[in-house]
Amino acid sequence: MGLLDHRTAADDWFTHVSPFYDSVVAETFWPTTLQRRLLDRLSLSADDHVLDVGCGTGQTSSFAAERAGTVDGVDISEPQLSRARRKFTETRFLRADAEHLPFTDDTFDAVVSVGAVIYFPDPVAALAEARRVTRPGGSILVAGFNRPKFPSWVPTENWATVVNEALFYTWTEDESREQFAAAGWDNIESDVTGPPWHPRLSRVVTATTS
Ligand SMILES: C[S@@+](CC[C@H](N)C(=O)[O-])C[C@H]1O[C@@H](n2cnc3c(N)ncnc32)[C@H](O)[C@@H]1O
Repeated sequence: MGLLDHRTAADDWFTHVSPFYDSVVAETFWPTTLQRRLLDRLSLSADDHVLDVGCGTGQTSSFAAERAGTVDGVDISEPQLSRARRKFTETRFLRADAEHLPFTDDTFDAVVSVGAVIYFPDPVAALAEARRVTRPGGSILVAGFNRPKFPSWVPTENWATVVNEALFYTWTEDESREQFAAAGWDNIESDVTGPPWHPRLSRVVTATTS
């Protein structure tokens, strides 16, 4: 558990961070090249309906929209959503908590969520809610922060681990697999990736519904 994996704390945090989210936070932790590589892991097609959970300013939604038919985004932060709505008028952005999605069962072909699970107080509840709104045979991709088992030889990587564990929810491979299984997902793949300055910063998990 970290200081920011709490609904109110995350909402307050993004009220302050939102004005420079795209230029600083996204560029540092979730840059365009990484986001496109992440989405390559899902086989999205032109008639797919995709949900982006924790859509923020709409970056991930826009990359998903390059491949899918329709994309809806949800986020708890109104300042983040306002920016997303101004930038991407084709996408519907709604204010909602990842644990309480305003959609009926089996609505989506795929769910994506990049950089948001690190703020979730109960990741299994959010993953189960994503499972509920995904149709049978659908898929999910979630990217969060990796919690390494051993220290690294690279000082910046150790520094990032200390900061991430203090502030955010971080995943080991085993925990990520257990959480997806507990939420009802199948065919779980859990892997590390990251931005150029730290190729092991992020943990990315894909899974499907049976
Ligand atoms: C790091 S941003 C990622 C935004 C986007 N995926 C991107 O890559 O640009 C994380 C987002 O998760 C949202 N968030 C945090 N907790 C949430 C929750 N419980 N439900 C929905 N969104 C949440 C935050 O408001 C923030 O906009």
